[in-house]
Amino acid sequence: MAAERIQVPKGMRDILPEEVFKWYHVEAVIRKLAADFGYQEIRTPIAENTELFVRGVGDTTDIVQKEMFSLQDAGGRSLTLRPEGTSPVVRAMLENGLHAGAMPLKLYYNSYRCYRAEKPQAGRQREFHQFGIELFGADRPSADAEVILVGYETFRRFGLAGRLLLKLNSIGCPTCRAEYRRALLGYLEGHRAELCGTCQSRMDKNPMRIFDCKSEICAGIAAGAPLIIHYLCGDCRTHFETLQEILRVMEIPFEIDPTIVRGLDYYRRTVFEFISDDIGAQSAVCGGGRYDGLVEELGGDPLPGIGFGLGIERLLMSLEAAGYQFPKPEPVGIYIGSADTEPATEALTTRLVTELRRAGLSAEQDIVGRSVKAQMKYAGKLGVRYAAIIGGNEVASGKVAVRDMASGQSCEVELQELVNYFVGA
Ligand code: HAM
Repeated sequence: MAAERIQVPKGMRDILPEEVFKWYHVEAVIRKLAADFGYQEIRTPIAENTELFVRGVGDTTDIVQKEMFSLQDAGGRSLTLRPEGTSPVVRAMLENGLHAGAMPLKLYYNSYRCYRAEKPQAGRQREFHQFGIELFGADRPSADAEVILVGYETFRRFGLAGRLLLKLNSIGCPTCRAEYRRALLGYLEGHRAELCGTCQSRMDKNPMRIFDCKSEICAGIAAGAPLIIHYLCGDCRTHFETLQEILRVMEIPFEIDPTIVRGLDYYRRTVFEFISDDIGAQSAVCGGGRYDGLVEELGGDPLPGIGFGLGIERLLMSLEAAGYQFPKPEPVGIYIGSADTEPATEALTTRLVTELRRAGLSAEQDIVGRSVKAQMKYAGKLGVRYAAIIGGNEVASGKVAVRDMASGQSCEVELQELVNYFVGA
């Protein structure tokens, strides 16, 4: 009896050869775009010390309270698979002294695997990939505008700009939040008994978390709550208005959505999301904002920061929905078959495909001892441009018939000249 099969973990999926070329394409467009805007790539470990996310993302967030994939290493330390990229990038910046170099510092990460133990559904997985940018050392609204523009430009380069809506909000700074907090707590106090257990327990520490609670009752209560945007201090208001002005001048359409607070604790002032109508309930393809207190929170000197994370799976879903034409990968170019399984023939075909590959061409050969007919069928399936079969006759005559698979025409080529023939083809 066959052994029981083991399946991929819940909320995770395989990326198969038939779709990998789409990822390559998306990653290549992103790499070019990031370079055009002067961002440098950074790669950090997939796991961090758990404390980084507890402090960075915040201990009252759903991510830290419910969604971390944590494990113990052999020394008993608690590690966590990164649920997001911002805290690791801040840690790496401080640890490697990047903050001592030229400012502003512009970093990005491409296809970062992230892990959150959420309830899986379309567009929401437990393992997913993010493209993200982090811009440090710039506190002016023009920096917010640039970061938003990178997001906008990403979608524009994929022909999606018109299909996504930019939603913008400001959630103020610690100064304006103090007054807002009192107002929000006053409102929530009247509903305390109706709130879910999680919201009740985190209400005193961080009442704004009510806005990202997934319970329907809490969402209903949140809908009537006072909004931070009405409590902004003068500086935050000016910052937000200037940002809007820049976006208007740059003709980047946006909508103010006072309910966007984001599910991570580090944000201050500007927060934003790019929303798609094409991909179902999990509609935020990109989300980000300013996090001016985070570097300090993680042990550095005060340094403003702003960035975004863009979900690659959700981007791919948006592209599929828009009928995006991905450039197809090049098929294998040349098939060198064997007419028999004589060691001399097999050695010659191996030598030929090796020379072709070393010359930078893609080539395949028979390694399973199929009949010539079956080999030609296989070559057809591979979609090769040319096929040639080597056997005793070819070895004796020093010539081989090369078949152009598209036209069906054959021509004779000296075996010694075969590599040059294909290099020039
Ligand atoms: P986030 O909004 O939690 O922000 O995630 C950013 C993006 O990652 C989302 O808009 C979505 O496309 C994707 N994403 C998040 N969770 C999932 C999931 N479970 N399955 C599939 N895709 C998902 C952050 O992570 C911040 N670090 C962004 C940031 C960078 N803010 C400033 N700098």
